[in-house]
Amino acid sequence: MQPVASPAHRFRRLRQSPALRAMVQEVALTPADLIWPVFVRDGVGVREPIASMPGVERLSIDNILRAGEEAAGLGIPAICLFPYTDPSVKTVTCEEAWNPENLTNRAIRALKAAVPDIAIMTDIALDPYNALGHDGLVVDGTILNDETVEALVKMALAQAEAGADILGPSDMMDGRIGAIRSALEGAGHQGVAILSYAAKYASAFYGPFRDAVGASGALKGDKKTYQMNPANSDEALRLVERDLREGADMVMVKPGMPYLDICRRVKDAFGAPTFAYQVSGEYAMIRAAAQNGWIDGEKAMMESLLAFKRAGCDGVLSYFAPAAARLMRAG
Ligand code: PBG
Repeated sequence: MQPVASPAHRFRRLRQSPALRAMVQEVALTPADLIWPVFVRDGVGVREPIASMPGVERLSIDNILRAGEEAAGLGIPAICLFPYTDPSVKTVTCEEAWNPENLTNRAIRALKAAVPDIAIMTDIALDPYNALGHDGLVVDGTILNDETVEALVKMALAQAEAGADILGPSDMMDGRIGAIRSALEGAGHQGVAILSYAAKYASAFYGPFRDAVGASGALKGDKKTYQMNPANSDEALRLVERDLREGADMVMVKPGMPYLDICRRVKDAFGAPTFAYQVSGEYAMIRAAAQNGWIDGEKAMMESLLAFKRAGCDGVLSYFAPAAARLMRAG
């Protein structure tokens, strides 16, 4: 038998010990890369489990403050608030969305006062307040763009007034970034950042989230007339370019894992701060498989989060944020 010729490169050389592997590691995940999405509900002392998102709970504002303190202690820089709105205040005109005293705005003020160091991100879209479950105003079965943008501007101003640091328009209406940006400038909120959900796909992976915010029952049909077709990638770049031009400071790709190619293209094309949202369905899949003993939940969590950094993201919104940060702290 002929001896095998020595390969010029033995890539395994640099994989043979933890020290060598650490030396040549290209990207790393830190708690500062995480944004923690939390669900707020009314009440006091409430922690309400969400069946389709094991380990995630709807929290009353007092417990949101506890979450804020926990995040700050773990080095997580931002929390993103999503309201579970009582069905009795949902209407087709959605005015609860810009009520200065709505759940989100009360939570922002309380969190700002109690944990001033943490950045507060919000969601701008009408779905938590809409009796019809859509992100926009619906008239005769059609989602109206420009009328919705006017409503979103009012919602944005109320959140900025309450003290939000980062506004996250997630509605996918056209023109909303420019409209919100000029309204913020006009109202003296020059320092409020916009993280645009620029490339948001019409995805089946949002299912558990709609349970969490209580929107599943209300929504009829789908969101395909405003959220993107999962088959498209060039369109994502055009949307990101448009939103950056209209005044977005940061952009997001959503969902996360099935769209890492989009993250990479966006980062390479614009070099802007780029985030991904590891959405509820992605979280639920990993948790469910782990609960069944089919995968190692902690390892899958960390691998999935690291993948976003490799794909070019500056950070990731993830329901795993506190668990992942705790694990990183532990070592
Ligand atoms: C609403 C909104 C959605 C999510 C964030 N903001 C749901 C949707 O568009 O239907 C999904 C987040 C998740 O699934 O974790 N505008």
